[in-house]
Amino acid sequence: MKKNVTVVILAAGLGTRMKSKKAKVLHEAGGYTLLNHIIRAALHVAPAERIVAVVGHQAEQVRESVSEPGIRFAEQEEQKGTGHAVLCARNEAETDSGQLLILNGDGPLLRPETLLRLVENAEAPTRASGGSIVTTEVADPTGYGRIVRDAQNLVAAIVEQKSATTDQLKIREINPGLYCFDAGLFWKYIGEVTPNNAAKEYYLTDMVEILTRHGHPVAPVLVSDESELLGINTRVELAFADKILRARKTRELMLDGVTIENPDSVTIDTQVEVAPDSVIEANVQLRGRTRIGTGCRIGTGSVLRSCEIGDDVTILPYVVAEASAIRAKAQVGPFSRLRMNAEADEGSHIGNFVELKKTKLGRGSKASHLAYLGDATIGAEANIGAGTITCNYDGQKKHQTHIGEGAFVGSNSTLVAPVTIGSGAYTAAGSVITKNVQPDALAIGRARQEEKPQWARKRRQAAELQLTKG
Ligand code: UD1
Ligand code: CA
Repeated sequence: MKKNVTVVILAAGLGTRMKSKKAKVLHEAGGYTLLNHIIRAALHVAPAERIVAVVGHQAEQVRESVSEPGIRFAEQEEQKGTGHAVLCARNEAETDSGQLLILNGDGPLLRPETLLRLVENAEAPTRASGGSIVTTEVADPTGYGRIVRDAQNLVAAIVEQKSATTDQLKIREINPGLYCFDAGLFWKYIGEVTPNNAAKEYYLTDMVEILTRHGHPVAPVLVSDESELLGINTRVELAFADKILRARKTRELMLDGVTIENPDSVTIDTQVEVAPDSVIEANVQLRGRTRIGTGCRIGTGSVLRSCEIGDDVTILPYVVAEASAIRAKAQVGPFSRLRMNAEADEGSHIGNFVELKKTKLGRGSKASHLAYLGDATIGAEANIGAGTITCNYDGQKKHQTHIGEGAFVGSNSTLVAPVTIGSGAYTAAGSVITKNVQPDALAIGRARQEEKPQWARKRRQAAELQLTKG
């Protein structure tokens, strides 16, 4: 990346038509905020230190939402228009040479190839000296700035909807909000933008006319796929962008060797990674930064958020897992739940209605049915019987349970933490274990069975006697 490009992303607006308390760029499509999408595309033409996001509405949250480290920020306290927003980034972004790439913050579908094309056009030896901007033709241009071409077919001006004449309103070539100006010239003339228009705003779009007037024309880069350039203004457009991003994602994964059954039914976030030869069944949701190895099968209805899944893992239907790791060759499900850094080590087995919270299940260990394992470490090759409960909470504090390697926890054991079950030890079925168990011991913590011969028969006879008397 030798290009001399500085990027300014406009992300200060509220986005009134979203009807939201949340700033527009914080909304998500494809499981990633609008702003993060733009930054991801911008990183193809400039390093993070050369990317400046202009924030205003909910500036703090917007800053925190940016996942790429090193991005710079400038603040626009009052939203006085797109031209004013760029001015607010002057300290961070001004250079006297190179290109200034300005991007609206609300276009998540933008492809990196389009940005590269725009920058290359602005850098070409035959370039227009003012810069280049992307244009596209749309079926319905309502609301967009219209592109007015001059005799040389360059862009003479961008006319905003509110200022356009009846003839100009008919123009279907519009400004999607992607500009690449000569940086030195841009900063030299930006002061000439005034708020003398119907909206009383500083329009960035006026720069085209201003540069042209000073003898520095601006060239159009016409892009044919208008959907790529969609700017999000409403939740309807947000849903449309979400659908496109997810379709792109499943297509990309399939072309990379992942089998997806009924691809329209799955929900896979932009940042998810899946290695080849894994199979994703219908109606699966893969969210956040989930990473899945090769040779896995993810059963229908499973929802995995920010999970790390090793190679050859089998996830049976309806597993819900969050921020957890499932190592190679493990088998999980159906109907299991993992959360808060749970870890199922290599070859382990978690069955139906088993919940793991902040718990590590060791290599080859099994918890096959109906268990709650919270704040616990379980060694390798241990067996956790059906109905085992770690009583990790005393109403005030959480406590740890340690279960050693090769231990056998009998069905329906109640392990009152803090407690340690030594390696190779047994607990008898139905035990309430309140004290540590030594390695290789058997702990029985239940009332001894007592039998009263003929008790039931006598009880029935007594009841019959009562009846005949009555
Ligand atoms: C803008 C363009 C219009 C173009 C359209 C494409 C102007 C004057 N008009 O109009 O030609 O067709 O985008 O979608 O630029 N923003 C700020 N600070 C502000 C105002 C806006 O940071 O003071 C940011 C917004 O957060 C948004 C972007 O700039 O990310 C565009 O703003 P928006 O209000 O959506 O502009 P449009 O009216 O759609
Ligand atoms: Ca807009």
